[in-house]
Amino acid sequence: MLKILVVDDEPEIVNALKGFFVKKGYEVYVAGDGSTALDLVKKHRPHLVFLDIRMPKVDGLKVLRNIRQMDTSIKVIMVTAFGTQEVIKEAGRIGAVDFICKPFTLNYLEHDVMAKVSVQLFDDLRQEMDGKVKLISQLENLNGRVSRNFYQTMLSLAAALESRDRYTHGHSERVDHYSKLIAQELKTNPKLKMDNKFLEDLHMESRLHDIGKIAVPDEILNKPGKLTAKEFNEIKRHPSESARILAPLEGVKDSIDVIYNHHERIDGRGYPEGRSGKDIPLRAKIIAVADAFDAMTSDRPYRRAIPENLALNELEKNRDRQFDGKVVNAFLNIRKKKEKLAKEEVLLNT
Ligand SMILES: [Fe+2]
Ligand SMILES: [Fe+2]
Repeated sequence: MLKILVVDDEPEIVNALKGFFVKKGYEVYVAGDGSTALDLVKKHRPHLVFLDIRMPKVDGLKVLRNIRQMDTSIKVIMVTAFGTQEVIKEAGRIGAVDFICKPFTLNYLEHDVMAKVSVQLFDDLRQEMDGKVKLISQLENLNGRVSRNFYQTMLSLAAALESRDRYTHGHSERVDHYSKLIAQELKTNPKLKMDNKFLEDLHMESRLHDIGKIAVPDEILNKPGKLTAKEFNEIKRHPSESARILAPLEGVKDSIDVIYNHHERIDGRGYPEGRSGKDIPLRAKIIAVADAFDAMTSDRPYRRAIPENLALNELEKNRDRQFDGKVVNAFLNIRKKKEKLAKEEVLLNT
C-alpha cells in the first residue's frame, strides 16, 4: 500500500491532506515538526513525503537532506507559502521532485501534483512488489535446497543404520519398492485421491521410516534371542525418535506424521499411541503392510525368513485387525497379477 507522510506545523494543512489521502486508501503518517518527521521516515519508509519548508527547529530543507541520505527512493514534494526562487532551486538540487505553494486546493493536489508523481510512485511500488516476489522465490529455492540436502543426509544415515545390522540390510529400499507397488494398485480407486505428490512423499517416508532406530542400542537391534519387555519398549521408541530426527525438515509435517504412525494398527493395539482406523494416515497404513511383509520374508536375528506365500497368508489373516483391509487387498491383487503373468509366460514358452 502506498505510504504517505505529511509534515507541516499547521494542523489545518495536516488534517486536510490526511483526510484527502486516507479517502484514497493510502497509509498516512503525520508530523508537526522536522525531527518527528525524520523518526517516522526511519520507521515507516514512506513512498511520498509532503514537506513544509518553514518549520520551527529543524527546517524543511534540512529534513529533505536527511531523508535523501537515508533513502534516495523516497519522493519529496516541498510545500510552502513563501517560496523564493533560491529556496525552490536549492530544494530541487537536494532532490525534491516537486514544489507546491500554499494555499492550494485539493483539486489542484489531485489533478496536478498527484497526477505527476503517481506514475513514478506506482512504478516504484511495482518494483518493490517484484523485489519481494523474487526474494520469496529465492527463499523458497534455498529452503528446497536445504531440505534436499537434509533428505540426502538422512538417506545416508538410513543406509549407515542398515549397514551396521546385517539383518535389516536393504530393508528400507524393499519397503519403498512394496509401498510403491501397493500405491500404484490403490491409485486405480478414484475415491482415494492419490496424486503424484502422494507417491513422492510415500517414497521418502518409506526410505526413512526406521531412521529413529539410530537411537536404539546395537545389542538390542542385533539380539539373537527373544527380546525382553524392556528391550521391546526400547525398540518401540523408534517412531517417536524418527519424528524427532526429521523435525528440522521444512514443510514435511505430514510425512513426519506418516513415519510416526507406521507401527499403529487398525484395531488400536499398535504403538506409539494406539491410534486406530481413520486416525492413521493412509501412507502409514501402506508402509505398515510393506514393512511387515519384508520383515516376515527376511532373516531376522531371532528367526529365519518365511516363504512369501505364508507371509501373504499372515497379511490376509490380519486384515482389518492389524492392517487396513484395502491395503492388504491391493497387495494380494499385485501378487495375483504377478502369478497370472508368470503362468502366461510359461504357456507362451511351452
Ligand atoms: Fe519400524
Ligand atoms: Fe521397518
